[in-house]
Amino acid sequence: MKVIGITGSPREKSNTKYFVENALNEISTYGLETELISLDNKYVKPCKGCYSCVKNKECIQKDDDFEEIFEKIKSAEGIIVGSPVYHGATTPNLKALLDRAGFLGRWVSSDMKAKNESYDFKGTVFSGKVGAPITVARRTGQTFAFAELLLWFTVNDFIVVGSSYWNVGIAGKGGAVDAENDDEGVLNIKHFASNMANAIKKLNA
Ligand SMILES: Cc1cc2nc3c(=O)[nH]c(=O)nc-3n(C[C@H](O)[C@H](O)[C@H](O)COP(=O)(O)O)c2cc1C
Repeated sequence: MKVIGITGSPREKSNTKYFVENALNEISTYGLETELISLDNKYVKPCKGCYSCVKNKECIQKDDDFEEIFEKIKSAEGIIVGSPVYHGATTPNLKALLDRAGFLGRWVSSDMKAKNESYDFKGTVFSGKVGAPITVARRTGQTFAFAELLLWFTVNDFIVVGSSYWNVGIAGKGGAVDAENDDEGVLNIKHFASNMANAIKKLNA
């Protein structure tokens, strides 16, 4: 059983990475395999809105890192998506990945109906997987970014787990990478990680 943590910060040293890594480290103590995918060294183009994946069951864009990341997401039982808060929202590189993964992930298994705008739902590639967001802000805008990620998880048929508080961290005044000072955030993410590991183990027992 595997959990992938995706981080949307464009920075190599990042508060978001700190919290997501902490969660993955905790999850690994439950005997689950983990992998961090940081978008700081990946390139994912935005969705073109061409709808070709509805028929082709694959993305038409092949000249970036999307397919490699999508295959890893598909193979995992759990997905954590972490984002810094940028103007009350997630980062654009992360949004590009989530748009393409979410849309393609639906059409890999489902088909568009011929005569109306609905579709024959046969699950997504994420169905039954456990997922959850983590957002990190210096001050405010958490709930919008967090909700943005929750909307992605819940429209894509994930089973979402929470914690003793929302999975958010406070860090980065003046761009600082100082997430370790957020004691409450660190404890909250640890508790979230235990919920995620337990949920995955029970669902896959
Ligand atoms: C373009 C930009 C926009 C930001 N917008 C917000 C914001 O809306 N609210 C906030 O509290 N912090 C904001 N910040 C601060 C970051 O959320 C904070 O520094 C965070 O720790 C960055 O995550 P990272 O260390 O993982 O890159 C912004 C930072 C940047 C660079």
